[in-house]
Amino acid sequence: MAIRKIVERGDPVLQKVCRPVTEFNKRLHILLDDMAETLEKAGGVGLAAPQVGILRRVCIVEDSEGEIIELINPEIIGEEGEQTGLEGCLSIPGRYGIVTRPYRVRVRAQDRDGVFFEIEDESVTARCFCHEIGHLDGHLYTDYCDHLLTDEELDQYIKDHPEEFEEDE
Ligand code: NI
Repeated sequence: MAIRKIVERGDPVLQKVCRPVTEFNKRLHILLDDMAETLEKAGGVGLAAPQVGILRRVCIVEDSEGEIIELINPEIIGEEGEQTGLEGCLSIPGRYGIVTRPYRVRVRAQDRDGVFFEIEDESVTARCFCHEIGHLDGHLYTDYCDHLLTDEELDQYIKDHPEEFEEDE
């Protein structure tokens, strides 16, 4: 496995629509393994292939149990409710915005061997599904919020929402 370089906002690769994966081969598995290692090192909860310069419909999400979910050619097939909260991105280091997303989503995707599956989750993980799948169509969360928070606004948000920042075991 290897750590890949995460591209940052301003790189045109982040605005491209990614192509579907058609071959579920060793090369894909290496990409997925590298992405998991890169995500772990960066300390995030999700990473999309375009963020490491690969324009393919591949992303990974770490769920609330700490498990890495690999999504190949994912599609959101169901949405329920709404949540508004803080969102960040490894391609926009150190900055955050307030974004409204569905509270619960259902995703259909393929696994690393091409087998279709469906997965449903809520709260932070649902937000993460939306965020990562957005990357595959060239969207950053900044497309869905009016501005990036200033340091003062971020401090205020953290003060007002302490429950969102409790450390998980
Ligand atoms: Ni992101």
